[in-house]
Amino acid sequence: MIDRRHLLAGMAALPFASRAGLAQALAGGALHTVRIPGANEDVPAIGIGTARRYDNPRGEGELTPLRATIARFVEQGGRVIDTAPSYGRAEPVVGELVAALGVREKLFLATKVGASNRQDGLAQIEQSFRNLRTDKIDLIAVHNLHDVANQLAILRDLKAQGRIRALGITTSFDGQYTAFEAVMRREALDTIQIDYALDNRNAAARILPLAQEKGVAVMINLPFGRSRLFEATRGRPLPDWASEIGAATWAQVFLKYVISHPCKPIAIPGMAQARYVDDNLGAARGALPDAALRARMERFIDAL
Ligand SMILES: NC(=O)c1ccc[n+]([C@@H]2O[C@H](COP(=O)([O-])OP(=O)(O)OC[C@H]3O[C@@H](n4cnc5c(N)ncnc54)[C@H](OP(=O)(O)O)[C@@H]3O)[C@@H](O)[C@H]2O)c1
Repeated sequence: MIDRRHLLAGMAALPFASRAGLAQALAGGALHTVRIPGANEDVPAIGIGTARRYDNPRGEGELTPLRATIARFVEQGGRVIDTAPSYGRAEPVVGELVAALGVREKLFLATKVGASNRQDGLAQIEQSFRNLRTDKIDLIAVHNLHDVANQLAILRDLKAQGRIRALGITTSFDGQYTAFEAVMRREALDTIQIDYALDNRNAAARILPLAQEKGVAVMINLPFGRSRLFEATRGRPLPDWASEIGAATWAQVFLKYVISHPCKPIAIPGMAQARYVDDNLGAARGALPDAALRARMERFIDAL
């Protein structure tokens, strides 16, 4: 531990810019980051999920909050946006908003392929390039293991051509975990995406440790179990241990739990409001729970 008093005294001797940087770090300002193999890039540990809330915005009135969300996310240093061809119009909506804001280069765009054969997969992926209005997609993952061998072969070719930077697989169903694990053992992957939350910890039994062992980056979907965790804690004050990790809201408690798993995952909560961006990215700043506090958090939620 650095002695805070001596550090502050030392800071006074620094030029202003360095002082500002150090002050931000002391306030827990820097975002925790995660390395994405394949892309060889470090990205912040919280991204935006676009299922449901981006799937069918009607008119400018519903597009405005989504645009504000992405603008705020970029302003705060966020990079990962996760979408999929099966999320209604979410892919073209993300493409349109990112283009309008002129922030493509500041983002790590992740989408999926969910097709039943090679020809359909190729067509769907070409549509994703058009929808996202980009000639390079940062990550494409095979959605819910659909036709996984054929689709991974396509993704490998695209990666070799430099059209995508990383590839992976996703699921959010316990019933797919055994098959998911088998693919992880068989195939060379850059990322996996799976459901995991304070009250939904089955992925931690085998999949998350395997990802850690293999050096695969992990993205976590459903980190709030949609609304389940908020409903479970509605009306309850934050426990006193929340302040030990600088969690000011329940959302930060739930996300700090997820991203403190030893496999160092990225959580991609659904975010369609600018105020959620500040809240959720705040979880990627400052202290994270250690193993003892993680166990305490689990006991807390299990007892509700
Ligand atoms: N198999 C797959 O590949 C797969 C499956 C499922 C999900 N996903 C991905 O994972 C992402 C996340 O899943 P999800 O969006 O369904 O569920 P989620 O992230 O568990 O929950 C998102 C919901 O939590 C609420 N929320 C977000 N931030 C909040 C905050 N700071 N305070 C209070 N409430 C907050 C919002 O509800 P309101 O909008 O109602 O306010 C939001 O819709 C998806 O968007 C998708 O990108 C992938």
